Amino acid sequence: MEIRKLTILGGRGKDGRPEPVRQVDLTMGRVVSIVGPTGCGKTTLINDIELFADDNTPTGRRILINDEPPPEDALLDPSRNPVALISQHTNFLSDLPVRTFLETHARVRGSARIDPAVRETLDFANQLTGEPLIESSAMTELSGGQTRALLIADAVVIGQSPIILLDEIENAGIHRTRALELLRRYEKIFLFVTHDPRIALLSDFRIVLRAGAMQEVIEINDEERKVADEIRKLDDLLLEFRQQIRQGRRLGLGMLEERLRALGYLA
Ligand SMILES: Nc1ncnc2c1ncn2[C@@H]1O[C@H](COP(=O)(O)OP(=O)(O)OP(=O)(O)O)[C@@H](O)[C@H]1O
Ligand SMILES: [Mg+2]
Repeated sequence: MEIRKLTILGGRGKDGRPEPVRQVDLTMGRVVSIVGPTGCGKTTLINDIELFADDNTPTGRRILINDEPPPEDALLDPSRNPVALISQHTNFLSDLPVRTFLETHARVRGSARIDPAVRETLDFANQLTGEPLIESSAMTELSGGQTRALLIADAVVIGQSPIILLDEIENAGIHRTRALELLRRYEKIFLFVTHDPRIALLSDFRIVLRAGAMQEVIEINDEERKVADEIRKLDDLLLEFRQQIRQGRRLGLGMLEERLRALGYLA
């Protein structure tokens, strides 16, 4: 099935009243964030998408693909399901070695060339993690961040899923901006649930949720693009300090001042 467009039709919030946003259209290549306070219904929204809600979930939302209800086989046959969800709490049930798992998935998906597909997936995953994955490790032995990196890479490269839903990648400790850079190279629809301004501002637009309801869709503008540049610099600085701490070093005021001066924040 060729996906051109995904549509969310508004349902109701937690209070049972219709949600303000009645329709959101996501065309191929869009990167969209879902933002809002803890418990406001972000995960619920991406679950609605994954389930192809049809007024049969607590929110009453409906999901359309190419302006129509999704074909039934998309729901029943996992290999035809266009949606991959990388959830907030991921655990593997399989203790297969990483390589065997990927090879099996590539075979099931009918990849023409198994080996290159597995290689590309591992390379992709390794660009997102601090420590490279060991191909012979059992899936169950991977760390949380490694697991999510592998799942993202697997969904993009081997699964070739046209719609990818990611629930809070920032908390997994994977390299966020590299993930977005890499993901942008693949023509897909990406939805990120995020609390991270850097990810939100790298998106084309963001859906704001409150009390279980889609309140507003905010498209990024020129001013926000400028703010995003500054946030990127400050965030890189924080990342550098985080790296220092991870490597067991001590931080100094001199270094902080030097970095802030280099960025133009101190005279
Ligand atoms: N429109 C709605 N109608 C009824 N219940 C809802 C609605 N939206 C969300 N809920 C309920 O609210 C609770 C919190 O929702 P959810 O887990 O999606 O929040 P969240 O934004 O992902 O929170 P967190 O940031 O902690 O991950 C859940 O029990 C969910 O079922
Ligand atoms: Mg959530």
